[in-house]
Amino acid sequence: METGTSRGMAVKQEARLVGPVVLLGPPGAGKGTQAKRICQIFQIPQVSTGDILRDNIARGTEFGKQAEAHMNRGELVSDELVQRMVADRLAQPDCARGFILDGFPRTVNQAEWLDKHLAEHGFFVTEKGCKRLLVIQLEVAYTLLLGRLTGRRTCPTCGRIYNTNTAQQGSRVEGVCDVDGASLVTRKDDREDVIKERLKNYQTQTLPLVDYYARTNHVIEIDGSAEPDVITSAVVKAIENGNRL
Ligand code: AP5
Repeated sequence: METGTSRGMAVKQEARLVGPVVLLGPPGAGKGTQAKRICQIFQIPQVSTGDILRDNIARGTEFGKQAEAHMNRGELVSDELVQRMVADRLAQPDCARGFILDGFPRTVNQAEWLDKHLAEHGFFVTEKGCKRLLVIQLEVAYTLLLGRLTGRRTCPTCGRIYNTNTAQQGSRVEGVCDVDGASLVTRKDDREDVIKERLKNYQTQTLPLVDYYARTNHVIEIDGSAEPDVITSAVVKAIENGNRL
């Protein structure tokens, strides 16, 4: 039931400038899980390049056709294609107060493009100053990631993420979404051989971003192996404290 207080909180969040937030972390770190929670709390959109690409594949678009083979092999899609998709998404009015970037940027080239794009398009410039990018890195030991990814199941309708290996994150009825009753699916790239390739590519192509952001922004490190609620609280705190205007 919506109370006067919760209505008040929603209005407060809707009026608030949150700014751009980047969630960094290896495949299976919990970026998607946390992005969904954070977006609900701050009432801002999740911009997940993986989800946008999968949606393009499902709809058979030209973007989807160009990306599919790369994704099924666990390779990155070209910077140019992903940047075009992100530019389109950030131009939508719901991104005006802020957004969570989940899975983007993923190369130093993409990070440089993003800095330039936000500056050139005057994102989050106010009379008090400019909201800078807040970078949050979820750290998880590699030994945990394989189990998380092979156990992941996703609802194709609402996008909710489950895991068959932990009772806490399992669905109430096996294989069925708690929210809308849809049959849960396994992502095509959650096969062990593809996961290994994705983890390798993360090391070589995405990890250098941590150094890039350490030079240009403050990187906040959060233990991604903690309980999901603990991580959410830490991310909320980081956003609340980050770059106040
Ligand atoms: P993308 O969809 O972005 O995948 P990813 O980065 O590999 O990350 P995942 O979605 O696998 O993991 P996650 O960190 O979101 O974890 P989740 O919350 O689901 O990209 C897919 C592909 O698209 C790429 O390989 C590439 O080809 C292409 N692509 C995308 N962006 C691109 C870009 N910018 N440039 C070029 N190519 C791009 O959690 C995983 C599991 O763990 C779940 O089952 C969950 O329930 C469980 N879990 C989550 N948190 C916890 C916790 N705290 N404790 C225990 N279990 C947990």
